[in-house]
Amino acid sequence: MDKRLLYVGLIVAIVLVGIFLIRANQSGYNPQPTANTNSNSSGGSSTNNSSSGVPLSELSKHSTVDDCWVAYDGKVYDITSFLPNHRGGINRILPYCGTADEFQKAFTKQHGTSKVKLLMNVGVLIGDFDVMGAVQ
Ligand code: HEM
Repeated sequence: MDKRLLYVGLIVAIVLVGIFLIRANQSGYNPQPTANTNSNSSGGSSTNNSSSGVPLSELSKHSTVDDCWVAYDGKVYDITSFLPNHRGGINRILPYCGTADEFQKAFTKQHGTSKVKLLMNVGVLIGDFDVMGAVQ
């Protein structure tokens, strides 16, 4: 009897770990800072920013309520899932989805640095922001 319980417990644990792994995968987290390689719009990718993070051209594609990336202090975050939870409302952040300087300016103007930790907690880190890409 005890053994049966042990087996059931083991199976439940395996299923839970499986579900956790699948969910972690679906969250879109990509540990490599090469999100720009996902773009399939142009086959000939520019060689310059292939290894230096997310360029503005990629960041700016994620500018909707269903897909919102922002850059802060040189890092790109996916804050899509946080938008509905923002107590200041979705619409205060939405204009800055897909932006770097604009977001950072507005965010800092409103919140100073008081919400930086929260941003880093609620945002899914995509990778480094390719500052040189933004200068082009
Ligand atoms: C991911 C980035 C952001 C985070 C984590 C964040 C977090 C928060 C939090 C926790 C609150 C609740 C009130 C408080 O504790 O002060 C809040 C309120 C607010 N936020 Fe944000 N915020 C973000 C971005 C922005 C941006 C970009 C704007 C506008 C440019 C903005 C405008 C506001 C406003 C207007 C309120 C309401 C303030 C009030 O009720 O007094 N937030 N935000």
